[in-house]
Amino acid sequence: MTKYNYNNELDERKRKRLDHKLKLVEKRDRLLIKDRTSDRAVFEEVFDKSTLMILYTLLNLGIVEQIFGVLKSGKESRIYRGVDSEGTVVVLKIYLTVAIEFKRMLPYIQGDPRFKHIKRSKRSLVYAWAQKEFKNLQRAYAAGIYVPKPIHVKKNVLIMEFIGEGDIPVPTLKDKPPKNLTTARRMYKELVRNVKILYQKAGLVHGDLSEYNIMNKDGVPIIFDMSQAVLVDHPKAEEFLLRDLNNLNRFFKRTGIQVKETKKLYKWVTKGK
Ligand SMILES: Nc1ncnc2c1ncn2[C@@H]1O[C@H](COP(=O)(O)OP(=O)(O)O)[C@@H](O)[C@H]1O
Ligand SMILES: [Mg+2]
Repeated sequence: MTKYNYNNELDERKRKRLDHKLKLVEKRDRLLIKDRTSDRAVFEEVFDKSTLMILYTLLNLGIVEQIFGVLKSGKESRIYRGVDSEGTVVVLKIYLTVAIEFKRMLPYIQGDPRFKHIKRSKRSLVYAWAQKEFKNLQRAYAAGIYVPKPIHVKKNVLIMEFIGEGDIPVPTLKDKPPKNLTTARRMYKELVRNVKILYQKAGLVHGDLSEYNIMNKDGVPIIFDMSQAVLVDHPKAEEFLLRDLNNLNRFFKRTGIQVKETKKLYKWVTKGK
């Protein structure tokens, strides 16, 4: 690494800046060295300067100590496994600031009073999106629903509990359907109950609930991916809730169990509101 040759002409402020710069370079190297060469390319592709700066901050705070290779790579975000300063495994969901679909996201943000003052730039929309997922997870978690525990959010980087065993994430319902009818019935009941608690207690509608966004931990359903979840008084809440319930019914019907009519479920979920 370059050694800076301090001399008397450098004033204290300049010296501090250089020191700081050096530390950042060291930290970046530490981050990158942990990764295989192929991951390094991904790092460079995903992590623009601003995202790297956020990661440095998270490193300094001890919220993240190391970041490993990419777990999942979606259109709008990348999921990384990492560890915090105590060695606990965490997940970093990093929203890509370049790839977002402005038009698709806007309606979810626009109808939400929590994001009334958001600027109409791509970058601030992505930041709001990450904030939204964090807040939604907080609400769901506080209501007692089994979701990844939200840990921290900064700009487009969301840190949450890693749901997995060892290094392997718990599979989704899509990849691991219920192993028998009894489990399917139990999971269905539990999920519908979760949708109700989410609605009544957390005041939320998931909005993208399907076998892709539910994990199956040995028969226990875990709901995740909540960036698009909306408050119950959102103009599209009803439409989203019906769609969520329809998705559950469609999936569980295929497992061979009997499901309740979507309209009846809807009434039961929203009763008293
Ligand atoms: N907290 C988590 N713990 C373990 N794996 C996770 C976690 N969050 C996401 N994943 C993995 O990353 C994948 C994509 O996450 P998701 O939040 O659904 O992103 P997207 O918005 O791209 O759909 C999931 O299917 C799951 O395998
Ligand atoms: Mg998803």
